Amino acid sequence: MGYLHKTLLVFGLSMAIIHLSHAQDGNAPEDYIAAHSCIRKVFDLPQLQWNPDLAKAAQAWADQSKNCKLKRSGKCGESMAAGPNLNGSYAVQMWLDEKREYDYYEHKCKKPCSHYVQTIWKNTTCLGCGRAQCDDGVSWVVVCKYDPPGNIAGEKPF
Ligand SMILES: *[C@@H]1O[C@H](CO)[C@@H](O)[C@H](O)[C@H]1NC(C)=O
Ligand SMILES: *[C@@H]1O[C@H](CO)[C@@H](O)[C@H](O)[C@H]1NC(C)=O
Repeated sequence: MGYLHKTLLVFGLSMAIIHLSHAQDGNAPEDYIAAHSCIRKVFDLPQLQWNPDLAKAAQAWADQSKNCKLKRSGKCGESMAAGPNLNGSYAVQMWLDEKREYDYYEHKCKKPCSHYVQTIWKNTTCLGCGRAQCDDGVSWVVVCKYDPPGNIAGEKPF
């Protein structure tokens, strides 16, 4: 009984340490959610919720994308980024930087901006992301999946 208790405590502690160190590297669920939260507040959109199933699917696609070529899985509601030492928070920041290409009134992108449009899609409620190191040993690929998906043709994000 005492032994089991100790084991659980140690397990609990190591989980906490893993969780803590993870939370500081920009790749934890809360980092991805936080990276989306400011812009969604700006437009008074509901905050996204982390979805473990989406995260699993995103991680699986990241694992299959280690050539870093950013080929999408073909499923809707997916954003990808890759770069040297890329972390999740910064990947989302790169997508948000497409904001300057987007004209809300015309609902048009001057340069590609569908990643940004996805971050402000009102109907999207859930987010799950994953990250994998590319074959070059330097770059990381980040995949986020969104549900329900955004970028529906003929619709504005909100
Ligand atoms: C994520 O990457 C960016 C850009 O390299 C860096 O500035 C930032 O500190 C990183 N975030 C964390 C939490 O490590
Ligand atoms: C959001 O969802 C509602 C209800 O399903 C739908 O009628 C509407 O067209 C959707 N809006 C966008 C912008 O996708």
